[in-house]
Amino acid sequence: MKNIILIGFMGVGKGSIAREIVKNSSYMAIDTDDLIESMQNKKIKQIFKEDGEVYFRQLEKNVSLWLEKSVKSTLISTGGGFYKVKNLKKIATVVFLDSPFDKIIKRIKEHPNAKAKFKKRPLLSDLKAAKELYKKRRPEYLKLADIVIDVSDKTALNCTKEILKKVKK
Ligand code: S3P
Repeated sequence: MKNIILIGFMGVGKGSIAREIVKNSSYMAIDTDDLIESMQNKKIKQIFKEDGEVYFRQLEKNVSLWLEKSVKSTLISTGGGFYKVKNLKKIATVVFLDSPFDKIIKRIKEHPNAKAKFKKRPLLSDLKAAKELYKKRRPEYLKLADIVIDVSDKTALNCTKEILKKVKK
C-alpha cells in the first residue's frame, strides 16, 4: 500500500475524512500537526505566537523528511500549509480535498465546537485575509494533486469511498 496524503485548506475536513478512512480500510493514520504538537509539547497556536510561522514551517519540513524516509502504507493528514514542503510527491499519492471557501467557513461555523475551531487556527482569525490565502493556494493544491475530491455537500463516508476507489485504480 502506498502512503496517501490529504491536502487542502483549513477546515475542509482533512481530519474527519482521515478518521473515516481508518474506519473503512486497513490504513492507520497520522496527522502532521499532531506530530508537531506532541514533539514540541505546544499547541500550534502557541507555536505561531511564541516561535513564529517561519519556525512552524521548518517543523513541517522536518516532518516531511521523516515521512519520506520512514513512513510506509499510512494515511497522512496535514495542516493546510504542509503542501509547500518540497518532497510532497515523494511521500505519497496526493489527494486534494476541494471545496469553495464559503462552504468551508459555513462548515466550521455550523460545528458544535465552532469557536474552538476558529481559535486554534491563527490563519483564520481574519476571514478576509484567509480568503486571499485560499485564492492563492487553491491553484497550487490542484497542481500537486494526483486525485481531486470535491468534498462540498458530501459526508466524510462518501468522500472516503471515493478516495479508496480512486487510489486503487
Ligand atoms: C495552517 C493550517 C493548520 C495548521 C496551522 C497552519 C495553514 O492546520 O497547520 O494553523 O497554513 O493552512 P489545519 O489545516 O488542520 O487547520
